[in-house]
Amino acid sequence: MSEKATIEIDGKKHEFPLIKGTENEVAIDIKTLRSATNGIVTIDPGFKNTGSCESAITFLDGEKGILRYRGYSIEELAEKADFLEVVFLLIFGDLPNSEELEKFHSDIKAQSVVDEDIRKIVDAFPKSAHPMGVIASLTSALTAFNPSSVNVNSDEDMYKAIVKILGKFPVLVAWTFRKKNGLRLEYGDKSVGYVENILKMMFQLPNEEYQFNPIVVNALDKLLILHADHEQNCSTSTVRIAGSSHVGLFASLSTGISALWGPLHGGANQAVLEMLEAIKEDGGDSKKYMAKAKDKEDPFRLMGFGHRVYKNFDPRAKIIKKAADEILNDLGVEDPILNIAKALEQEALNDPYFVDRKLYPNVDFYSGIIYRAMGIPTDMFTVMFALGRLPGWIAQWKEMRLNNEPIGRPRQIYVGETLRPFKAINKR
Ligand code: CMC
Repeated sequence: MSEKATIEIDGKKHEFPLIKGTENEVAIDIKTLRSATNGIVTIDPGFKNTGSCESAITFLDGEKGILRYRGYSIEELAEKADFLEVVFLLIFGDLPNSEELEKFHSDIKAQSVVDEDIRKIVDAFPKSAHPMGVIASLTSALTAFNPSSVNVNSDEDMYKAIVKILGKFPVLVAWTFRKKNGLRLEYGDKSVGYVENILKMMFQLPNEEYQFNPIVVNALDKLLILHADHEQNCSTSTVRIAGSSHVGLFASLSTGISALWGPLHGGANQAVLEMLEAIKEDGGDSKKYMAKAKDKEDPFRLMGFGHRVYKNFDPRAKIIKKAADEILNDLGVEDPILNIAKALEQEALNDPYFVDRKLYPNVDFYSGIIYRAMGIPTDMFTVMFALGRLPGWIAQWKEMRLNNEPIGRPRQIYVGETLRPFKAINKR
């Protein structure tokens, strides 16, 4: 392949270098486009053709259905690693040895408390508040309690900020859940694993010892691993762009949480379950909903289907579908919604509308069914996604700061009014 791309404008040729990644992805490097062409820019709404950065964290090939964190396949990580190992891998670049993992865990545990004044903020929310609104606000509040931005030139400062948020965020998640359920706001248990602690903080009752169910612990571990990073998705790009102004880590993360909430992104897991419930209530007629999804006059979309990057299958969905079957079976849960989901998937896989547009189930299609079997309410699903995506956001923010990326500030093409004289109010 040639090493340059040529763009011709008004008969003048401009050359731009091609850059190649370690997996042979190619990009035209247009850093000098404006200066070389006297101000011409590119336009690409939704960044469908635009790489925003070079990154060494996550590789995904949407055509082949490949997802790897730091070179390790998602299939292998989901089977053999635990979530905290994956957190370390994403943020620091390599799998930890046992001493590194132990130190990392104990540093996180030392930070697993929040300022007691945060209880007052949690208390101020009505029980009806949506958990995503609550967790976004609490993460912002954490910023107010820790206002200084991180000195990114100090490894120690960087590390401290990272273990702080990894310790405190699960407390906020658990408190969000407990407030909604009228339970006392508790801290965790230092003697148990990172994921066990999350479950215990969420579900322990004041009058009885919390009993761990290994099926539930493993299921949550796997779900968190599968959600841990996904390169430059909407919330991650939001975190990177917010952080590029050199605002601190916690403030950058809070922007990611808000971006995640949307139903086209992380909010899809709640939307999927609500859709499946609605289909069930409506008599379980999946064909009717397939027709709605295909009707361009109808705003209905088959939630949990389609992906900006995966045009073959989402490898996370494959793992989750298998896990959903096993977990429901192991927990002895029969959920009619699982059958509706399977029927919809089967129909979509054989329907030319979905086949032609390469629309396959994504990570959110089956995850809600597992969360529900674990006793997690629908409106908490996206909060659980945020818990899983936290290490990805941290790793991407850290990479962006260490690479000293410039402030994110796209251009536009102005299509509004040209200069016009001001009109006095009585003349309008
Ligand atoms: N149901 C029906 N039609 C769809 C769907 C769907 N779920 N998704 C895409 N299409 C159609 C769309 O109408 C368009 O058709 P046409 O070419 O005739 O105009 C075509 O497929 C391409 O869709 P697009 O909206 O241009 O694709 P996109 O890359 O901009 O959007 C998406 C990707 C994920 C936002 C979209 O597929 C979608 O809205 N899916 C449902 C929401 C969802 O499940 N989101 C979770 C994504 S995975 C987890 C995450 O990111 O957090």
